[in-house]
Formats: sequence, C-alpha cells, structure tokens
Amino acid sequence: MKANQGFKPEFLWGGATAANQIEGAYLDGGKGLSTSDFAAYKDPYAKGKVNNFTFDVTSHELQEYTNNSEKYLFPKRWGIDFYNRYKEDIALFAEMGFKCFRLSISWARIFPTGLEQEPNEEGLSFYDAVFDECAKYGIEPLVTMSHYEMPIELTKKYNGWVSRKLIHLFEKYARCILERYKNKVNYWITFNEMNMNLNSLYTGAGVLEDLVDDSLQAAYQASHNQFLASALAVKAAKEINPQIQIGCMINQIEAYAHTCKPEDQLQAVKSNQLNMFYPDVQARGYYPTYIFNYFEENNIQIEFKPEDELILKEGIVDFVAISYYMSHVAEAREDASKLAGTFDSPIKNEFLELSQWDWPIDPIGLRISLIKLYDRFQKPLFVCENGLGAKDVLTKEKKVHDDYRIDYLSKHIQQMKEAVKEGVDLMGYTPWGCIDLISCGTSQMSKRYGFIYIDQNDEGNGSLERIRKDSFYWYKDVIASNGNTL
Ligand code: BG6
Repeated sequence: MKANQGFKPEFLWGGATAANQIEGAYLDGGKGLSTSDFAAYKDPYAKGKVNNFTFDVTSHELQEYTNNSEKYLFPKRWGIDFYNRYKEDIALFAEMGFKCFRLSISWARIFPTGLEQEPNEEGLSFYDAVFDECAKYGIEPLVTMSHYEMPIELTKKYNGWVSRKLIHLFEKYARCILERYKNKVNYWITFNEMNMNLNSLYTGAGVLEDLVDDSLQAAYQASHNQFLASALAVKAAKEINPQIQIGCMINQIEAYAHTCKPEDQLQAVKSNQLNMFYPDVQARGYYPTYIFNYFEENNIQIEFKPEDELILKEGIVDFVAISYYMSHVAEAREDASKLAGTFDSPIKNEFLELSQWDWPIDPIGLRISLIKLYDRFQKPLFVCENGLGAKDVLTKEKKVHDDYRIDYLSKHIQQMKEAVKEGVDLMGYTPWGCIDLISCGTSQMSKRYGFIYIDQNDEGNGSLERIRKDSFYWYKDVIASNGNTL
C-alpha cells in the first residue's frame, strides 16, 4: 500500500449548472411554470448589503407576480438561453477538456404541473439531445433531479414539500427520468443542497413560509419528505440500472469555533452536526439520535410514519457530494444560530478575505471538510460546486482578465489535492457556473462564476455571445495535466 500521489486518472473534471439558471425558454416545449420562474430580481444593493443568499417568496408576492408579472424582472425565465444554445455551450466545455458536466433536469419540463400521469415528450427529448451532445465528446453528465425548483402548481396546491403528497409525485418523476436516460446518465444527485431548506424554504422546498406556523418545524418536515423521496429514487435507480452511481448533496459550510473556549468548541460541533444530519440520514439510512434531542429542545414534531424507517434504510446513496463556498464562525452565545451553515453568522473570521458578495474565501476549509466527511462516511466524495462570484470586466478587445478567479480556484484545487493525498476518495470536481449564469440567491447576471463570459446584463439585455475568459485557458491546462498545472 502506498499514499495517493494526486487525483486519480479517471477523475471527473468539469463544471456545474442548474436548469433554472441557464435554460431560459421557460414556457417552450410544453414546460410548466416552476417555483424559480417567480424569483423576481430585486436590487440586492437596496438592502444595504450584497451578501443576501436568497430572496424568498411569500404567498402575497406569488399572487402579485402571477397577476402583474409585466411589472417585474424574472431573470431565471430567460437564463442564458442554454435551451437553444446547448450545442455551442457543450462544444466549449469539450474544448476545455471536460470529462463531466453537472446539470439538472427541470421537473416542470417533464411533468408541467407535477400532477400529470404521462410525461411531456418534448421535455424528455430536449434532455435526450443534451445528453447525446455530451456523449459526442465523451462528457459524463452528472444530473441533479431537483435543483431549487419544482412545478409551481405543487406550491399552490400543497405548499411544497411540507406535504407528503410530493413524495410519490417525485418518485413518479424520478422513475420516469431514470428509465428514460438509463443508458445515457451514469451519475445522479437526488436533491441539490438539502440542508439549505433551513435557510430558504421556498428555494429549497417550494414552501411559502408565511403559510406555515413554525418555519423550523416546516423545514424539517420538508426535509423528511425529501429524504423519503430521495431514498425511493435511489431504490428505483438500483432497480433500473445497478451500475448507476447516485449521491446526496449538501452545501458544506464548515463551522470554526470562535475561540478555544470549550463552550465555543461545543457550539461548532453542534453547528457542524446539523449540517451532517443530511448526509447522516442519506448515507447511513437512519436518523441519528442527536437530532431527536435537537427536535425536543426546539419543540419540533415531524410526521414520521412506521414505513419510513425501511424506506430510508433501502435508499442509501453511493456517494456524498458537496458544494463548497465558505466556512463560518460559531460562538456560544444566547442568540447562537439554531441553523446549520448559517449565512448570517454575526462573527467575521478575521483571517479570511471576503468576496465582492461578502462570502469568506477559505480554501483550507475545503480540505478540512473533505477530510472530515471522508472520515465520517468512508464513501466517495464529489465537489460538485465551488467558485467565486465576481464582477467581470469585458475589455474592448473582448477579453476578460479574471486572474482573481484563477487564484481562487487554483487555491481550492490545491487543497483538494492535499486532501486526496491524505486519503480522501474524491470522484470529481465541477466548479459552479462554468459558464456565466443567473445567480441563485440574487437572480443577478452580474454575479459571474464562469470560464465563459455571457454578453448579457441583469435586465436581460445583450447579444448572448459566449466569450472565453482567461480562466478558460487556465482550466483547460488544469484538466489536461490532471490538476498538476495550477
Ligand atoms: C449554490 C447553489 O448554493 O450556490 C447554486 O446550488 C448557486 O444554485 C450557488 O448558484 C451560488 O450562489 P449564488 O447565489 O451566488 O448564485
């Protein structure tokens, strides 16, 4: 036996996106309206800060957006027109040498309201064409079944994932796409960042928060229902094609204790535990005891039926995927957050620089996270999101000199490599927004992550031309050298 020298030869280098942030064409091909079609652009600077992670939608806003949609901007409705330009985009990914492309399927393209018995053939054919295009270049799709959107009808009718009704509606959808793409897609993720239900109920679970009595209880009920749906999807995948690799995913935000005071350390342990709750259930197949204690302390009662235990046990995932953008600081105090991975940590880490959106930049935190996750689960890990949202400048010569992005990514890849050397089994790396897209939290175009610049502004104006940034050429070399040229 000897130590790992670096990334394995079959390492899945690539990039990541989500349907609602790239496709556009929100009513084409028989697609129904989805929750993300109602994420109105609101000036993120208006609140005096730019780091708001998400804008939730209330029942009144949903009504207003439905009745008077012409008064608002809904950038996710137009995305970057991937729906019509996927061939050009995938060719650019291939030029960078991608081995893998993470994308999601829009549930509302397949079942426009979620309630139909039969799927929408036009929606299914669209993804057939996308996967065929990937296959042309030997690119493996990594497909998220549910990435921050669902048919809006399911919000209107059931208030989203707080209802158990969604479990079998999702299972129908999952079985349909698993069956259809069983020979084209080998890698799947059931739900994007399930732990973010705690921070954003509408985005993660289609729940209108003003319609529930207790949002923490609702977040855990929605999560429980998603656990069951995810487990049923895993079971279906194994029945349909035992070769399929299917994973769970969280937004990994490592909590550091503010000081070495034992109380602060304990707070950090608890904060991390709440994040780990998600893969604990999905990678082990049962609820850990600590969560029942937390439920009792916070007066949370979730509906847990006798059959649920077996469903969870039979739906254990093959790998654990994470997105990683930052760490945060935990401190024992009266108002210490009861949420995992909180974005509103009042304490700043004085050792870290911030991005233009005030997100702490912490490459070593990625290494720490990978080591801890691997120690805990002993399952392959996948970093399926990571990246720097920044304002890019397009020069007159049509260049984007994004050395700050290269710097960010190379430091994170370096730490990932160290983690691999330290024994972590890492399957792949798909940095977020490999092509500029509409940001999730703020619905901005100007918060850019990509190697490829899109000529479009926040209002949706521009030629949509695709332009290679400096980071495009840099990443091409990274992939060609299997992570040795950074
Ligand atoms: C992740 C989401 O949490 O963060 C993505 O899965 C999102 O959908 C990414 O785009 C970055 O967040 P934002 O708000 O900068 O787009």
